[in-house]
Parts: sequence; C-alpha cells; structure tokens
Amino acid sequence: MKKVLFVCLGNICRSPTADGVFKKLVSTQRLHKKIYVDSAGTAAYHIGNPPDSRSIAAAKQRGYDLSSLRARQVISADFEEFDYVLAMDNENLSNLKSICPESAKAYVGLFLDFTALPVDEVPDPYYGGDGGFEHVLDLVESASAGLLQHIQKEL
Ligand code: 4NP
Repeated sequence: MKKVLFVCLGNICRSPTADGVFKKLVSTQRLHKKIYVDSAGTAAYHIGNPPDSRSIAAAKQRGYDLSSLRARQVISADFEEFDYVLAMDNENLSNLKSICPESAKAYVGLFLDFTALPVDEVPDPYYGGDGGFEHVLDLVESASAGLLQHIQKEL
C-alpha cells in the first residue's frame, strides 16, 4: 500500500481538488486497494469544513465529486503514515519541512514535480475569479497522471 497526502494552506481548494482527482484516477485504474489518498492543510482556519463551493462546482463539471471531503490540518504523524506528502506551493512546502520530524519516512516535495509542465506551484485560487479554479484542475489533472505513473513503478 502506498499512501499519498496532498497539502495546501486551507485544505478547501487545491488539496481537496487533488484528492478528488487523484482518487478517481486511482479508482479507474483499479488501484484503490494499493494507493490510499488523503488531503490536509497547513493552516487551521477551515478544519471540519467542506471544500469551497467554487472548487466543488468546477470539479463536478469534470466529473469529480469533492462534496464529502472535510478539511483537516497536517499533523506530525502524517509524515510517518504517508509515503508522499505533496505540497501545492513553495510556502506550503517550507511549512511542511519545518514540522516534519527527522525520523519521517515520507517523501516531502512539490506535487507539480510530477508533471512536465514548466511550472512548480498550483496557485491559490481563493481570492481570484472562477478561471483560477479551472487552472487548478488543469494542473492537478496533469500532475496526477505523472504521479500515478511514478507510483505504479513502486507497486
Ligand atoms: P487552499 O486555498 O489553500 O487551496 O485551500 C485557501 C483557502 C482559504 C484561505 C487561503 C487559501 N484562507 O485564507 O482562508
């Protein structure tokens, strides 16, 4: 079993989108018993909340259901539990590195390292227009395909 944790700031926009998109990809490839997927935020603002309604709506248009997800904050046990802890941007990554225990087994890095696209961050769409949510989906779909290819070699 490989375990993947997607992380953003609030766990209501980018990381739930990655969670829903990657989970669907894993399930269509019939790998749901071999790959476990979850998401979390570095901040505590939205603990217990569903994803942002704009993220839910944009994802639904592409066939992903985010409605049952609920926000939680990253905890230090996550670095022992998960094989991949993947940040949406460099600020998330540096916050993760600052709380990651020395003993952690997890690979801690940027999600977009798994795409060939010439960008390394999924931009925060929270304060922008609807186009931001489509852009998040485009980046997340691309990196999800690359991440699955990578993990499949380890199964
Ligand atoms: P996320 O977006 O990190 O992609 O979930 C944000 C959600 C909420 C806030 C910031 C970013 N906020 O400041 O409340």
